[in-house]
Amino acid sequence: MIILGVNEGHNAGAALMVDGRLLAAISEDRPTRQTTRSGFPFQAIDECLALAGVAKRNIDRVALASTQLPPKYFWVPRESFSIRDFWREQNDYWKPRLYEGKHPSFLDVFRDRLDPSRFIYDPSLVHGEEDHAGMLTARLQHHQHYFGLPPERITVHDHHTCHAWYAFMVHPQRLEHDLLVFTADGAGDGVNGTVWSAARGQPLRELHRTNQCNIGRIYRYVTLLLGMKQFEHAFKTMGLAPYANPKYGREAYDVFAETLQNDGLGFSYRIKPKDHFFHFKEKLEGMRFDGIAWGIQKRTEELLSQWVGHGIRKTGIGHVAFSGGVAMNIKANKVVWERDDVQSLFVPPGSGDESLAIGAACKETVDHAMVPAETITACRPMTSPYLGPEFDAAAIERRLHRLGGLEGCSVRTVDHHHVANLLASGQVVGRFAGRAEFGQRALGNRSILADPRPREVVRTINEMIKQRDFWMPFASSVLAERLPDYVVNPKHLAADFMTLAFDSTPTGQRDMFGALHPYDLTSRPHVVHRHANPDYHALISAFAAITGVGAVLNTSFNLHGEPIVHTPEDAVSTFLRSGLDHLLLGDLLVSKPAKP
Ligand SMILES: [Fe+2]
Repeated sequence: MIILGVNEGHNAGAALMVDGRLLAAISEDRPTRQTTRSGFPFQAIDECLALAGVAKRNIDRVALASTQLPPKYFWVPRESFSIRDFWREQNDYWKPRLYEGKHPSFLDVFRDRLDPSRFIYDPSLVHGEEDHAGMLTARLQHHQHYFGLPPERITVHDHHTCHAWYAFMVHPQRLEHDLLVFTADGAGDGVNGTVWSAARGQPLRELHRTNQCNIGRIYRYVTLLLGMKQFEHAFKTMGLAPYANPKYGREAYDVFAETLQNDGLGFSYRIKPKDHFFHFKEKLEGMRFDGIAWGIQKRTEELLSQWVGHGIRKTGIGHVAFSGGVAMNIKANKVVWERDDVQSLFVPPGSGDESLAIGAACKETVDHAMVPAETITACRPMTSPYLGPEFDAAAIERRLHRLGGLEGCSVRTVDHHHVANLLASGQVVGRFAGRAEFGQRALGNRSILADPRPREVVRTINEMIKQRDFWMPFASSVLAERLPDYVVNPKHLAADFMTLAFDSTPTGQRDMFGALHPYDLTSRPHVVHRHANPDYHALISAFAAITGVGAVLNTSFNLHGEPIVHTPEDAVSTFLRSGLDHLLLGDLLVSKPAKP
């Protein structure tokens, strides 16, 4: 059975599942080059079908994620919003509604951001900017026409059901343990937190859902109050938090702690704020920016830890999985896995809305398989995160010939030893090889690599390569066999997707200081197994043979604010617009002329 999963909301994307196996998953922001792109994912769908060799007419079923997508966000896509636009949304749209009894229209407030060309559905079916039901009708009709399928072959799945079933179905030990699954995000289909459980090998059962799990909502508004984009930059607040003096952070923490409380499987308020932006804006006025980051991070960690603890006490299950946008908070994940009662924690790659298409396809597979649910849940759909496009040597050469701007650059075929030597001598290399990894974290195939040892590597890459924020840490790719040398992992957690943080060992602090958080010295490793990515494993092994260090610094291959590179053309464009001296395309090394 061929099932296509589709997410048209925030971080839109597509996923193709054939007979219970996930063959391709792509976020629309990669081919469109628009970070967090929303809307019907034309290009991601085409690329998924091409990768699997499936024609559109052969799709058996289409699974949509989210029942409630407001029409206003299709007319005014918020991925184009600046930080000032997000503030304008608060001041000119929400404040009059919440505090002045007025009802301004979103489309009026953002007349200058209207983009009717992005609304590809039948407008006659949608009556107003908040008409969720009309929007759903329009989406279903569009899918019927686009795929030539009858209505009964198209299903819409609840947002958090998609988050939960994604984490559950791709869990590497689902057949060995009972599982407890949590989802948390800003909001999806009117809900922002759910709790589920599954007996070993059995389907997932929902235990609780709530719209009071406002952890993600508060976190994103605090990110906006700190002058950063509320959706994309929450991880910057997390990266800033460790620098604060807790003495100042406590003051901010108290502001958060007097509001939202964990209450068993759900949440309640000690003091209920009228809203989650202006309330905190007023209360946090005059406090230090880093202290605010510390306070919200600390409170987030506490609330999630307490929530998971209550779930474990209620179910007796200590193997936990977590997905939804809040699961991207790797430092909170660390506090959760360090709990004594947590036996394991699994966070899948791309756990935000970019994986909703996979979750929808997973649920659809279970719902419509012609075998009992117990049997279908026995299959593990995702065996690799490398689910995007690949370009072979001939395709890369062809494309390079067509590109301008490379005059003066040298192009030659090299082996791993050559690249490892470049890295060991302090050079920074952009690597574009193999199938693109799914999710927002680069897992080696669309990565910028460097020697992880020197402290100054952070500044070099920040200034010359990515114009990144100075306080943000870099991550690492670590050979699986060397992981115990570098991080403290007493529960032997799988860390294959850069979704968990660990304390570093003294050896880790010596060998990969440049790839740790410079202040708290934690690590967010991407563990590289030979079987998962043989070519990348061989490259890091070559680096280890020269330096003795079984890890490289790994950061995503993109310029600041842009999506990760998707095609050889994107890689070359990024190479030319940055201070990168070397670009590895498969085994072709493109190098700029040596500087005088
Ligand atoms: Fe979500």
